[in-house]
Amino acid sequence: MCLLKSQKAVKELALMNAQKTSSAPLLKSTHLLGIEGLSPSEINSLLDLANNYVELNRQIQKKQDTLRGRTQINVFFENSTRTQASFELAGKRLGADVMNMSVTSSSVKKGETLIDTAMTLSAMHPDLLVIRHSSAGACELLAQKVGCAVVNAGDGSHEHPTQALLDALTIRRRKGKLQGLTVAICGDILHSRVARSNILLLHTMGARVRIIAPSTLLPPDSDRLGVEVFTNLEDGIAGCDIVMMLRLQLERMNGAYVPSTREYYRYFGLNAEKLALAKPDALVMHPGPMNRGVEIASAVADGVQSVISEQVEMGVAVRMAVLDALSRNLPGGGNA
Ligand code: CP
Repeated sequence: MCLLKSQKAVKELALMNAQKTSSAPLLKSTHLLGIEGLSPSEINSLLDLANNYVELNRQIQKKQDTLRGRTQINVFFENSTRTQASFELAGKRLGADVMNMSVTSSSVKKGETLIDTAMTLSAMHPDLLVIRHSSAGACELLAQKVGCAVVNAGDGSHEHPTQALLDALTIRRRKGKLQGLTVAICGDILHSRVARSNILLLHTMGARVRIIAPSTLLPPDSDRLGVEVFTNLEDGIAGCDIVMMLRLQLERMNGAYVPSTREYYRYFGLNAEKLALAKPDALVMHPGPMNRGVEIASAVADGVQSVISEQVEMGVAVRMAVLDALSRNLPGGGNA
């Protein structure tokens, strides 16, 4: 069994090295600004590459030289644990020089604009700029100004493409496919860039998507998203393959969207009883950060159907694949 496992790992590493040395372009675009516009083959290529990086990340020796000589700057104007840490690890494991700009101690606090900050960083010749910002469209704006590849690490309520990719990788590894699955996304859909990117990706890959929320937390254009809309959790998760829970994004709310978190949990919190309505082998997902007892019960978050920790693991691999793929489109190509 152990021998078989190690043979499998060797085979997968060999495949990864083959892909790496080919340095074939995987993406049409210079930047990753969103899932919108990605083709099924681009998504599959990124997921295949990320899948190989999962194996690398499980080895003792995790370091590669794919991004040797490249400089990656991570600029997070909004708080992050998972995304920032995994982009840093991803760049370092691929051999890049990685710098995390601390926004709280930067000249942004002295009134420097987003564009001026980006132009200042651009003058230091980074190859990859990873940006999180509270405004939708901020990453696209910067991509037009700077001379390097820009990765959207979350822009307002717009998109969070690497989250959707890591969710897709988690599902694909567990279920063997995305096509034909029914995915229920439940929670604060209105403010969620995770929901938006997931809806786009899952549609592109042939999955069926349901969104579940109180009517106050549904986007006004939800009938045009090509999803089934539910305002009742029990109805929405009945028979689904995947239950993806989202937190209430209180930081984006100006006003009361729900009567109270206690009331919200009663109707929209996922507990074992409600989860039993989904398929018996349904997966429970959450992008984090989680608010236990608000959108999800601890027993479910830590239960056998939960793949929440696995999502975090896939996050590093997906971000490695994205950085690798974008570096192939830079002047000098892959492994400059
Ligand atoms: N899922 C996610 O984006 O988490 P962080 O805010 O911790 O990066």
